Amino acid sequence: MGQQKSSILALILSCIFFILINGQDNEYCEPGPVENLQLTESGTLTWDTPDSESCEIAQYTVSVSISGTDEQRTYTVTEPLLDLGDLTPCVRYDFQVRQVSSDNVAGSAAAIHTITPPPPEANLTLQHITIVPVGRNIRLEWSVNDDWVQCAERYRLVIVNEVTNTAADVYTTTTAMTVIGLVPCVPYTFTVAALFTLEEGGPPTLVRHVAPAAETSSPTLESFTLGTRSLDLVIGLERFNINGCPIYEVLVDASPTFTASYPVSDQSTRMSFPISITDLQPANLYYLRISANNTFGVTSPLQVAFQTLESN
Ligand SMILES: *[C@@H]1O[C@H](CO)[C@@H](O)[C@H](O)[C@H]1NC(C)=O
Ligand SMILES: *[C@@H]1O[C@H](CO)[C@@H](O)[C@H](O)[C@H]1NC(C)=O
Repeated sequence: MGQQKSSILALILSCIFFILINGQDNEYCEPGPVENLQLTESGTLTWDTPDSESCEIAQYTVSVSISGTDEQRTYTVTEPLLDLGDLTPCVRYDFQVRQVSSDNVAGSAAAIHTITPPPPEANLTLQHITIVPVGRNIRLEWSVNDDWVQCAERYRLVIVNEVTNTAADVYTTTTAMTVIGLVPCVPYTFTVAALFTLEEGGPPTLVRHVAPAAETSSPTLESFTLGTRSLDLVIGLERFNINGCPIYEVLVDASPTFTASYPVSDQSTRMSFPISITDLQPANLYYLRISANNTFGVTSPLQVAFQTLESN
């Protein structure tokens, strides 16, 4: 009986002792995170211990890994800096720093994710640009030196229509782009530059190219005036800023009575192109098939019928 009592007492005592030991954990100093963590241009990781830190900091542990990989390097340093001069340029790294107190307790981590800058010798000049026509569109392809391609975070393409002098700006992360919606037969300037950031990058490379030709649309009838022996029409041709290929002539086919052609000399005003048909018979019905032609060929015709006025 007496032995049982004393072993219960021992159990109670050891419980109290355990609680005391555990309670003492609170007296180990756990540091907070560091501040101002950054990677300098020269590849040194630096940080500061905040003024409000109450623990005595004995050292820091630093872990370095390439984003998206499992590879990790860990360092222990006593000063708030670490020279990482051997980092690969233009690679996204994750850095984590923890403070370790003199009680050997590691605090919570401060982390940054940053891309290492390109070195001064990085060459982001394009090696080539080629232009491949794909139907009415074109495909631009380019490259930069393999050693620096990872420094080309994106490419900036500027497309200038040399007739209207308007520019479009496109950014891409790939080394090719299909450009659609070019105005046929219009000369363009394409400029491509490899960029590391929006400001930093290689010089622009420029190529000129005339957009592929395309057929023009069928003529339209804008207005007409009937006479006894004549017919005055205003024909609408496709606007020059929609299709820059010159239209050679407007063809009027009223066979078997007559056929006629009207050369188009001013392309800029061709959307209202007047033609005058004379030597017709009064009160006669004429069926006209009106088409236009350019380098691509002849359009399908606009079909119209007119009756000339009676003579009195
Ligand atoms: C940079 O790259 C371009 C394209 O490959 C090359 O023509 C040029 O010589 C290079 N410049 C230097 C300084 O290496
Ligand atoms: C198209 O226009 C050209 C230039 O005027 C002309 O020589 C040619 O015969 C025309 N083609 C057709 C099919 O009418």
